[in-house]
Amino acid sequence: MNPEQNKGFRISIAPMMDWTDRYYRFFMRGITRECWLYTEMIVARAILNGDAGRLLAFDEQEHPIVLQIGGDRAQDLARATRIGADFGYDEINLNVGCPSDRVQGGNFGACLMAEPERVADMVCAMAAATRLPITVKHRIGIPGADRYEDLARFVELVSRAGCTRFIVHARIALLNGLSPKENRTVPPLRYADVYQLKSEFPHVTVEINGGIRSLESIQAHLRHVDGVMIGRAAYEDPFLFASIEEKLFGNEPKTRESVVAHCGAFLEQLVKDGSNPHRLTRHMLGLFYGQPGARAWRRLLSDQRFLKTSGARCLEHALRQRADERELVQV
Ligand SMILES: Cc1cc2nc3c(=O)[nH]c(=O)nc-3n(C[C@H](O)[C@H](O)[C@H](O)COP(=O)(O)O)c2cc1C
Repeated sequence: MNPEQNKGFRISIAPMMDWTDRYYRFFMRGITRECWLYTEMIVARAILNGDAGRLLAFDEQEHPIVLQIGGDRAQDLARATRIGADFGYDEINLNVGCPSDRVQGGNFGACLMAEPERVADMVCAMAAATRLPITVKHRIGIPGADRYEDLARFVELVSRAGCTRFIVHARIALLNGLSPKENRTVPPLRYADVYQLKSEFPHVTVEINGGIRSLESIQAHLRHVDGVMIGRAAYEDPFLFASIEEKLFGNEPKTRESVVAHCGAFLEQLVKDGSNPHRLTRHMLGLFYGQPGARAWRRLLSDQRFLKTSGARCLEHALRQRADERELVQV
């Protein structure tokens, strides 16, 4: 259950709201067994007051899987942690990185970096609620606390409270003016701050995140830190993880067709339950990224009429039509 113990490093796919739902995660497990998966951020209050079964359910194949929680009250976070642990998650992560207004409205996410003592109290309460590792995903800083010394103080206090892994998005969170989307491309990334953190806190596990899109850059970062987290590239080019699996973990190479086969029974069950196949196929549009026939694949799997008429066989049909289109392109 802990693949990086063998390798000494961890590769993970970032929590991404509306993207890393259980359908996406099941699909990705057809590509990678070793990489860690995250849920989307789930607000602690929603776990406590909402339908926890619907919010937290996942498939056994998704292990190792981390539940990411957002919140600002230690007691709520501790109770949500306990519930997450009972559901069988492998680790619980606290979101201290999201710059969205909606999240700030609840006084959580990246704005909490201004209050390291408070984050330490929250982590302490979460750690007391479970034996699972408690980890924190955060930024290198926020306006007003954007020097390396502020980051180091944050990590110092929060690690003493029991956080076992820091996933550091190497970009300052801008809390006013920019949308979360804009704040994923500006201001510039500062990887050197994350490397310095690891060298000054060698006993702390540090994972780097932000703008990492290739096997080569993952390998370069692993010379400095304990892990690499990938966000958008994991969604846009999911098959990137087949080369990670092969080159970094030494596993058998996968084919895209085997990934489609992995999703077959899952899709059949989905359709049998009366769900729209789009719930799964919307996450698979990038499977042929950069390959001949990629456009046909995307077009078909986003076409509601095609999905409705093909039902559980939509992947199979799309695979065939993509192959036909590829031949036409090659002729
Ligand atoms: C659509 C989308 C949704 C996101 N939702 C979350 C989230 O729920 N929790 C979180 O900690 N970060 C969230 N993020 C930020 C990512 O986890 C990651 O830190 C960011 O995209 C930078 O990594 P990348 O450059 O590899 O994409 C989201 C990013 C995207 C693109």
